Amino acid sequence: MHSKDCVKVAVRVRPFNKRERDAGSRCIVSMVLSSIAIQDPRDCQNSRSFFFDYAYWSHSGFARDSSGLYVPEEPGGRYADQDSVFQDLGEGILENALQGYNATLLAYGQTGSGKSYSMLGYGPNKGLVPKLCDRLFQAVRESQETRQCQVFFSMLEIYNEQVVDLLSRGSRTPGGLRVREEQQRGFYVEGLRIVPCESAPQVEQLMEQGTRTRTTAATHMNANSSRSHMLIILQLQQIFSKESITKQSNINLVDLAGSERQRSSGSEADRLKEGTAINLSLTTLGNVISSLADVAVGKKVVHIPYRDSVLTKLLQSALGGNSRTVMIATLSPADICYEESLSTLRYAERAKRIQNRAVVNESPTERLVKELKAENDRLLHRLNRLGQEGHRTSNETKELRQLLTHNELQIRAIQTLWEQHVQEALKDWEQQYANITQERRMMQMHPYILNINEDAQLSGVVKLFIQEGEWDIGMCDSSPRSISVKGLGIQERHAVFRNEQRRMTLTPLEGSKVNVNGLSVSHTAELQHLDRLILGSNCTYLFISYPSERGGGDDWSRYDYDYFQSELAAAQGIHLGETSVGPNQTDPSLLAVFYDYIKLMPMMAEANQMSQELNKGVEMKLEIKNLALSDPKGHDLEKETVVRVTARAKQQVWVWSKAKFVNRKFLMEEVYRQHQLERSGGNVLTDAVLPRDKDPFWDPVEPLLLGTAHLWLQSLAFRIPLEEQLEVLGSEGTEEAILQAQLLPCNVSGLALGEDNILIDPSELLGRRLDFQLVLDQCFGLRWIREDHNRGVQIGFRLLDCSQPLYTPAVWHNVNPLLDHRVHFASLHTSQHLLDYLQGSAVVLELWGLQEGCTDLKSSLEEVRMTAEGVFIIEEAGPADTAVADASELSCSVRALQQDLEEMKNITSSLRTENHSLREQLSAARTGGEGVRSRSVRPSCDAEFARSLKVFYHSMTSVRCQLQRLRRRRPSEDSNLLELRLFVDEQSHLLKDFSEQLEQCVSALKQDVAAIVRRKRERSGTSS
Ligand SMILES: Nc1ncnc2c1ncn2[C@@H]1O[C@H](COP(=O)(O)OP(=O)(O)OP(=O)(O)O)[C@@H](O)[C@H]1O
Ligand SMILES: [Mg+2]
Repeated sequence: MHSKDCVKVAVRVRPFNKRERDAGSRCIVSMVLSSIAIQDPRDCQNSRSFFFDYAYWSHSGFARDSSGLYVPEEPGGRYADQDSVFQDLGEGILENALQGYNATLLAYGQTGSGKSYSMLGYGPNKGLVPKLCDRLFQAVRESQETRQCQVFFSMLEIYNEQVVDLLSRGSRTPGGLRVREEQQRGFYVEGLRIVPCESAPQVEQLMEQGTRTRTTAATHMNANSSRSHMLIILQLQQIFSKESITKQSNINLVDLAGSERQRSSGSEADRLKEGTAINLSLTTLGNVISSLADVAVGKKVVHIPYRDSVLTKLLQSALGGNSRTVMIATLSPADICYEESLSTLRYAERAKRIQNRAVVNESPTERLVKELKAENDRLLHRLNRLGQEGHRTSNETKELRQLLTHNELQIRAIQTLWEQHVQEALKDWEQQYANITQERRMMQMHPYILNINEDAQLSGVVKLFIQEGEWDIGMCDSSPRSISVKGLGIQERHAVFRNEQRRMTLTPLEGSKVNVNGLSVSHTAELQHLDRLILGSNCTYLFISYPSERGGGDDWSRYDYDYFQSELAAAQGIHLGETSVGPNQTDPSLLAVFYDYIKLMPMMAEANQMSQELNKGVEMKLEIKNLALSDPKGHDLEKETVVRVTARAKQQVWVWSKAKFVNRKFLMEEVYRQHQLERSGGNVLTDAVLPRDKDPFWDPVEPLLLGTAHLWLQSLAFRIPLEEQLEVLGSEGTEEAILQAQLLPCNVSGLALGEDNILIDPSELLGRRLDFQLVLDQCFGLRWIREDHNRGVQIGFRLLDCSQPLYTPAVWHNVNPLLDHRVHFASLHTSQHLLDYLQGSAVVLELWGLQEGCTDLKSSLEEVRMTAEGVFIIEEAGPADTAVADASELSCSVRALQQDLEEMKNITSSLRTENHSLREQLSAARTGGEGVRSRSVRPSCDAEFARSLKVFYHSMTSVRCQLQRLRRRRPSEDSNLLELRLFVDEQSHLLKDFSEQLEQCVSALKQDVAAIVRRKRERSGTSS
């Protein structure tokens, strides 16, 4: 039997989660029947549609019934609940398996998109796997008369290319289980525990056991479960005695790791690339799917990379092989997840094209029995024949009888093996069942702590009871009065729980980290129901008090991992402020950086703990970088979380991007794990052995961007010189230095232009040459050098569209270094594009920190155009070319401004024409000499205007300097109340002076302009 069928693909959209609701997210996904459309939130016209076999709307239109089930709000509503998903996908899988086909169900999607919800489910909302097991055993019971069924269950996890048996009772195999290949069987996991099951509750209990193993592995090894793939294998053997056929099918149920990891670390440049092994299985799965999709459309594909990863080896038959396969792609409907959701849909679309060739499988075991029986018949026949022929020898008879007995034993062994296995599994199950019952009883009698995991699926799995008396909590498990927890930063004896007269306290022991409700505690703390505990670097537990204190409902689900981390961040002063109008109004860019921050925070704590335990001497700290600091218009609202890494001994500093840190953290875990293994094996530790180029805690030193300053270019458009004292601000708003800089309009040979060259209308520059010099005079008060005199600095800058920055020469060991750096720029044909740039942008001056051992930054002059005199050309295109460039490059807002400008120009020119004609009419009426006088009015007015503009610019520069001085003034850290009061008084005086000065400047300009206009009118009055 042979059939060719495509992989079936379903998509499912989940409800908004808390983060998305907080962000006031918009739903950008819509569904009609089995088609789904996704809209680009930045461009509403841009929408993509996809068609799949099934599409499930689980985003809205649901209610929670009294048993906690999510059901459609009204009968026949569009909400797709767990039942309807099972009807379509689960029943099909079951049907296939019962027919003897292999079947596979894969869940793919970004972290938190609902893979585990669909596959396993939460609480009463059971997912596909438990429902499938229910129905499977129901089908087995219903057809008992016609067939005999055997079901085997296994559960494994693939983490970092290592296979972990989640049902194993023994200790974990270092390096994981081996994946082997046999011609008949294909790839399989050697030594994987395969448990025979006879009922759905038995399978559920095994799944619970597997989840528990996953949870402890995740906390012990600080591995992140969202990065691991979970695979459940159900083997179904059916013996149809009447027809003497046996069918065997494997059902693979796969909950894949969060898909976003595949993209995020792959794209990041890091010296240590190996971190991408986090995603090797996922990336390879993508490659296999792409290749198979190409095969399906008739493209020539030389090689399908099944062998490149553990996951694809184990799923080989599911993809392009002997299996009927279904993929469920889960999506978040929120605008903030657009990129990920679109990439999930594209992935699913490719998977849809894969063609499999499923066959009904005959069981090898049954064949073996059949073969043995046939051989026995042959042997018996031969024995009989020998007897009839009367020439049998005793040796031959003995040998034949031995063979017969051996075969019969083998047949019996094969047949009784199942019985034995079932008995063993039942015993196991009874034991586990007793444990669960015992745990439930304890929960009703004693307080306990409950684990909270980043993966909601693993939260609440571990319960540690605190009975009356005093209990040590820590790594120790030797003492009878101890509670054992394992994890990073947990000491042998970490803290003491006291449960006396129904009063619960927690006392940290010396040197241990204990945090209650976000606050670090060093003395005894009394515990209340639902208090949040963090032990060590990141072992998170929720305290559940005596039943009498638990109140009704007792829904602890709101205390999820995010809650713990937000509370911790709030204690460090990082929170979403109350300044906005409401929770739904928070700036999305702030939300994004906030969630990044709370996501990275626990990872940071773990990384620092590993650094400490491995004696790396490296300390990591999260920083929020404000991208407006590097934006030439100063507009960019985006913020970015980065990691500042400091090697304490040499005061070396690095700044890592988020993706690089995540990659490194993964590698650190590997190094740490290796170290733990060696320690437990009693070997000499390898602190220093790791070669530097493989050390994730280390990097070669590089220049570091310390901060930036904006030097606004507007004055150049008027050819007015500008001198500034700029404050160089670091990413967190700290003052890194003061930089003295100038912009000097000049002539071709670099000589500064005089006042007469000041322009009133910048458009006079259009099509003409503009020369100017950027002068960087001196830096003052460099914090970077003040901290360590062995350091140096450079200033980097780039103008207009230059792709490569230019740098000043490096200056070392000086807190106030003289730079005296002068660069001459020229635009050969000034375009509107350049004028707009000058009037609305700044040159961003980057302050780069140099450290001992790092090389200076060099200006790359390859792409820079220069005149023979060494003048940098920033624009040389003629007016026609620039017009083309403008059309393609300018953003909408600039275009709008341009239109305004054009309009104003038109008005001016029509006024000019009108003026001109009026003047002509006048001169026609009067004598010719007066015309000369009237022509002389304009230049003299312009000169006056230019002079007052220049005065205004100069006074504004000094006002700006004063503002900077004001901003820099801070009271001394140890000032007392009186000194603080004096400081505030003084600051208020200065502020008053400042505002007066500002007023004066503006009113002086107003007066000047009014005077000029008046004079102009008078003159034209006299002339008329
Ligand atoms: N269809 C749904 N209806 C209601 N809640 C859902 C649905 N899908 C997901 N959720 C909720 O969203 C949260 C995250 O879902 P889930 O744990 O299934 O994500 P995941 O894709 O498995 O993530 P990870 O890759 O981290 O394992 C859970 O709290 C879950 O209850
Ligand atoms: Mg999951």
